[in-house]
Amino acid sequence: MSAEIIDGKKVAEDVLEECRQEVKELKEGGVVPGLAVVLVGEDPASQVYVNSKVKKCGELGIYSEKIVLSKEASQEEVLDVVERLNGDSKIHGILVQSPPPPQIDEEAIVRAIDPRKDVDGFHPENVAKLALEDGSGFVPCTPAGCLRLLQASGVETKGKEAVVVGRSMIVGKPMALLLVGRGVDATVTVAHSRTSDLAEVCRRADVLVAAVGIPELIKRDFVKEGAAVIDVGINRVDDPSAKRGYRLCGDVAYDEVSEVAGSITPVPGGVGPMTIAMLMKNTIKAARQIG
Ligand code: GUN
Repeated sequence: MSAEIIDGKKVAEDVLEECRQEVKELKEGGVVPGLAVVLVGEDPASQVYVNSKVKKCGELGIYSEKIVLSKEASQEEVLDVVERLNGDSKIHGILVQSPPPPQIDEEAIVRAIDPRKDVDGFHPENVAKLALEDGSGFVPCTPAGCLRLLQASGVETKGKEAVVVGRSMIVGKPMALLLVGRGVDATVTVAHSRTSDLAEVCRRADVLVAAVGIPELIKRDFVKEGAAVIDVGINRVDDPSAKRGYRLCGDVAYDEVSEVAGSITPVPGGVGPMTIAMLMKNTIKAARQIG
């Protein structure tokens, strides 16, 4: 049996269509949503992500600013930019692309962002609101996108076993909180690189979310027959035969796992497009709340 492919591009397009409508309504009320994206340094993957976020804003009629600081930028310079954006009434969402260069204390930067503009959902106030299931906060875009993919594909989560592989603040932890939340109602296990017998833990999963950043870690024997598999990994692996010298692959060994899974997200074209779409949603939510 071959798994149903969960088409992230298609679901993201549905979310973006909702966004277009919401932007139109906000503009009729005199509010133009605005997003500022801050990039510190020259990491090539980050440059691609930042550019695609700005481009998507343009397509939806969301105002955007891209602020690029050199890879030698000081903590104070980044904090000054955040401070200015906190006070800028055209800007409703602020995102500082992760990871920054090593001299930057990322946690301190995140705490400096006005929580009402923290569309990444990384500020402690928004982390707390997610745990409290207070809907006024911002949910990190990638796990929010994963949940939306599961829902759009009709995957049952209520009372089911979910295993999240990865415990990052960007994906693993918020994903676990979403899956255990009211209305989603999964029984959740969070596994990680130190988990003993990871394969056995993963095999419990009716819903398996892989977010560890290890290429093709999740093999066929990690997956229960019929499970829904969400692959958050976007790994660059060297491939001399590829035009760019590398290819993208997920945390899941796609070909073999799709022979046992019930449904699966591809890489690319699965979770990736959802992250941007949910960022647009969060920016619109911020604009509604701040005005
Ligand atoms: N780097 C990888 N994913 C993300 C994200 O969702 N937000 C930010 N700010 N940086 C990232």
